[in-house]
Amino acid sequence: MKLLFVGDVYGRTGRQMIEDYLPKLKNKFQPTVTIVNAENAAHGKGLTKKIYHKLLESGADMLTMGNHTWDNREILEFVDEAKQLVRPANFPEGTPGTGIRYIHLPHNRQVAVINLQGRVFLPALDDPFRSADELINEARKKTPIIFVDLHAETTSEKLALGWYLDGRVSAVVGTHTHVQTADERIFPQGTAYLTDVGMTGPYNGIIGVQRAAVTKRFVTAMPVRFESEEGPGQLGAVLIQIDDKTGKSTEINRILINDDHLFFD
Ligand SMILES: [Fe+2]
Repeated sequence: MKLLFVGDVYGRTGRQMIEDYLPKLKNKFQPTVTIVNAENAAHGKGLTKKIYHKLLESGADMLTMGNHTWDNREILEFVDEAKQLVRPANFPEGTPGTGIRYIHLPHNRQVAVINLQGRVFLPALDDPFRSADELINEARKKTPIIFVDLHAETTSEKLALGWYLDGRVSAVVGTHTHVQTADERIFPQGTAYLTDVGMTGPYNGIIGVQRAAVTKRFVTAMPVRFESEEGPGQLGAVLIQIDDKTGKSTEINRILINDDHLFFD
């Protein structure tokens, strides 16, 4: 089976990129399942019910989140009922929503989707390594096909979790930094890995934000209001080939679409 994962959809530009390109990507690559990180989908912070449904209509089977999960309070109204949404599993116990859900496929196949958040340069949460252990034990009773979106800041924490989970999950793909890394690989025990899949949002901003505002913040060290950058968009994604029976990955390919990396149908 083929799994398509699209990185952090950021604001209106990101949503437009999904509308414009996700159908084309699906047509070209014919993925069995499509997963999209949506933690920045509503004005760069969080997710609304309308956008949740819109992203599913555009072709996503499951949405993942991250540190901005609760920034738009509207999510609290639907997070528990949203069957195609996961938030980081290592949020404190009792937090609304869930960190693992399953995509059901024909012939009794399932894809487990797990969302985790790193702890380096991010708020203190439960241990993502131990959360992963628990959820993988649970998931492997149902399916060998397990996808992990690791929403984290540092390369080291992401690589550590990737190696830690090698052979136990099909793929560990990072999100959050909004810049795609070029280190895609299959670890020795069959886990596909990429440190960061990159953002789907404004190409000429600074990780999505208006560059004038970010620059002013750095130059003056004064508080500045952050808005999404205008102009052309980009899309970051990864396509992973997984053996249905073993859950091991056999191929991983990055996808990057922007004015400097054009997409051909
Ligand atoms: Fe994030």
